[in-house]
Amino acid sequence: MKSLSEKSAIIPFLIVFLSVVGVAIASLIRPAAGGVGALPPLGLPPLPYASLDTRKVELGRLLFFDRRLSFNHTMSCAMCHIPTDAFASTQSATAIGMEGQSLPRNAPSLLNVAYQKTFFFDGRETSLAAQPWSPLLSSIEMANPSVGFAIDNIRKLANYESLFKRAFGERGLDMETVGEAIAEYEKSLLSGNSRFDRWKYAGDLTALSDQEKRGFKLFTGKAGCSACHLVGEQSALFSDDKFHATGIGYKASVFAPPPTHEVELEAGKITKVEDADLTAVSERKHNDIGRFAVTLDPADRWAYKTPSLRNVALTFPYMHDGSLKTLADVIDFYNAGGIDFDGKSPLLHPLGLSEQDKSDLVEFLKSLTGDHPAALEPPTGSCLTSVEKQSSMSRDPQC
Ligand code: HEC
Ligand code: HEC
Repeated sequence: MKSLSEKSAIIPFLIVFLSVVGVAIASLIRPAAGGVGALPPLGLPPLPYASLDTRKVELGRLLFFDRRLSFNHTMSCAMCHIPTDAFASTQSATAIGMEGQSLPRNAPSLLNVAYQKTFFFDGRETSLAAQPWSPLLSSIEMANPSVGFAIDNIRKLANYESLFKRAFGERGLDMETVGEAIAEYEKSLLSGNSRFDRWKYAGDLTALSDQEKRGFKLFTGKAGCSACHLVGEQSALFSDDKFHATGIGYKASVFAPPPTHEVELEAGKITKVEDADLTAVSERKHNDIGRFAVTLDPADRWAYKTPSLRNVALTFPYMHDGSLKTLADVIDFYNAGGIDFDGKSPLLHPLGLSEQDKSDLVEFLKSLTGDHPAALEPPTGSCLTSVEKQSSMSRDPQC
């Protein structure tokens, strides 16, 4: 018979053996996100890619948070797509860019952007890897005067050249690899496993309250929301990836601009500006004709892409122009049937919702807040931050 000490000597080996087997089995069931054959978070469709390259993801993450990628080293992608705001901006109706200039549109969430076929509210971009060049070059966003300028700028910043070599080998740092690295990082920003997902797709009957369940019934029934914000049997992205006119864009275009505007200079600081002065420094919002700008098809006038509603409780204000402040405002808007004009979607009509129905719908929408990706925190380094967004507009001498 073996002594106790001999037996206990086996235990560490047993632990190692069992944990190796355990990890192997666990990876068969649910491989780590991004690995070959990886599974998406609960409630999301199969991943639109076979695997992610960790070196590219890490490089893309550094670029995404780096303020030095802008002309005067003040703006990073993460300052408009703020991780703790579900990668959207909640502080102003439309995004605030280079030197406080207002952008014409609200900054959308980048969570689950990997599943989208088109990008921007008008769908003008079809490649996630090409998209970053739009903000990098826009004079009111990151304001690089040219592609070559931006590449030379990145080349001068410590470490990037070697990180590009590590991630892309011979190709190194160029226009395409900058976009590919950022896109690889964006593809890792998956968010599912909301309370709604646990109820609908994992059979947890207690994950939603009775009120939220009533809200879902309205969403897919009387209120007709799921005609555009699709909900599947196995998964849901809450978007049909199509373009519809709700009347919001039309309204902004036909009503004459007021003589003065309230302008948000930075979070909470509102000032009055003459219309003529405002148009001198920012793009006029009512020139926004939506999808029509891409297709020139009159049927697309003031049509915008159906946004996903995942994490919608975190991504206020709402619509392409951020004109609706709360989810209750959005429900009131749909209850009235949107805003009437010739081109309005035939799917929108007055809904006759009771006060109870409206609050049920709002509560249901709040149940769509999902798990957030692990890498929410910006990488460390003084130029790699988004948290003190508005106060960091001025140039940090270290960047
Ligand atoms: C100054 C604010 C600002 C900065 C900086 C910025 N964005 Fe955006 N982003 C926006 C706005 C506003 C939109 C919507 C514009 C539109 O629809 O025309 C947008 C749209 C997007 C979209 C499309 C999302 C969708 O649902 O269609 C992606 C992807 C994106 N940005 C990624 C980036 C990346 C990557 C960077 C950095 C290279 C970046 N953004 C920098 C404000 C910003
Ligand atoms: C005809 C298709 C359609 C129907 C039906 C519809 N939506 Fe939408 N929804 C859209 C489009 C398109 C937008 C974007 C409009 C814009 O940006 O101007 C949108 C935007 C939203 C937003 C704002 C999301 C954001 O991040 O800004 C919410 C919330 C929303 N819808 C909820 C609902 C609810 C609730 C219903 C049912 C009462 C509903 N929708 C019915 C097409 C639709």
